[in-house]
Amino acid sequence: MIYTFPEKFLWGAATAAHQVEGNNVNSDLWVLEHVKPTLFVEPSLDACDHYHRFEEDIRLLASLGLNTYRFSIEWARIEPERGVFSMAALDHYRRMLAACLENDVIPMVTFYHFSSPRWFAAMGGWEKSPAADLFVRYCERTARSLGDLIAFASTFNEPNLPMLLRWVTHIEVPFTTALLMGKKAARAVGSGNFGCFFLGNAQKLQEVMIAAHHGALIALKSGPGSYPVGVNVAIQDEQAVGLKSKRDQKCAEVYDPWLAAADRSDFLGVQTYTRGRVGKGGDLGPEQGVELTQMGYEFWPEALEQCVRYASARVRVPIYITENGIGTEDDTRRIEYIDRALAGLKNCLADGIDVRGYIHWSLLDNYEWIYGYRPKFGLVAVNRQTQQRTAKPSAHYFGEIARCNGLRARATAPVSVD
Ligand code: BGC
Repeated sequence: MIYTFPEKFLWGAATAAHQVEGNNVNSDLWVLEHVKPTLFVEPSLDACDHYHRFEEDIRLLASLGLNTYRFSIEWARIEPERGVFSMAALDHYRRMLAACLENDVIPMVTFYHFSSPRWFAAMGGWEKSPAADLFVRYCERTARSLGDLIAFASTFNEPNLPMLLRWVTHIEVPFTTALLMGKKAARAVGSGNFGCFFLGNAQKLQEVMIAAHHGALIALKSGPGSYPVGVNVAIQDEQAVGLKSKRDQKCAEVYDPWLAAADRSDFLGVQTYTRGRVGKGGDLGPEQGVELTQMGYEFWPEALEQCVRYASARVRVPIYITENGIGTEDDTRRIEYIDRALAGLKNCLADGIDVRGYIHWSLLDNYEWIYGYRPKFGLVAVNRQTQQRTAKPSAHYFGEIARCNGLRARATAPVSVD
């Protein structure tokens, strides 16, 4: 072993409700997926049917050697109508939490991962004044039912994403389609409004969500159980290119407000995939000729080390890596990515940075939002017709690291699992 991670280090994989559960019909995203025109290349439909197959998936995760499962609970299922809470949905998530504990898996629960109930969108979403209070009430009610089984809770998944997307100027956004999609969705829910996480005013949304986060921190601690509560922030390894780069302005706008919020919480979740190159006019996009992932961004596992360093200079709370991974059909690239990312993490730990876990994105090949099912982020492949799961070599490779809580001499070729 060339490096051993700290004792009790968390090794896990993550999913998000809308991306894996299937038939999340009461959510705003389901509406957006089905109107015409839409930005979504295909609808989520059955997804990975995780709603019914969670036991098998949690057993599989544990059998790989992982000790943590990060998943999200679906607000649209728990509160299908404003103020109406579903006991059946809460029971479902209790069973998921219990399945984790039965398999010696630590459950890390995200309360909001991009999707909202239809009624919330119809009301205007995050930009309307009751939004923060409504989210806090959902957290309070849910924590009352589930709190005794939760080990970690995050209020939001990447609440800074809309601010980050404002900087992505090198990718053409079909604004007319987005606008029409929103209008059609409003009509579909019988409202003049359709406020969703991905559409609308990012600055306003940020203000409301920060307020909601702080309210939810208290609400999540008001019930049974006792667990740390944090927030998971999307961070890129931002690099300045040329004179007068706007890199620092970008970081100040996109990351720092949420890192300040995390600093007033119990932990920070760092989620990173790639680097950003920022010039004097904003984001430049990847350089010509570099290796790109299925998402069109650069293969850059070194982002993990740089993002942890950036974040740790701004927060005093412990850091968990709550997402890191790669969309690729070539599983050997996933292994290389994990290897290099973890080498960077080891450097951070060697410098005394308090990182307590690494949760890979994702457990399953799942529904990648507007891109549909094409990008493959999973450690485990899912057959779209039969729903059969098949662990990829990277799953076994990563599981082995988790089992021995350490890195062996850097593998130059993927280890064989046969
Ligand atoms: C999100 C995930 C997504 C992943 C890969 C993150 O931004 O939290 O839901 O699937 O990136 O694109």
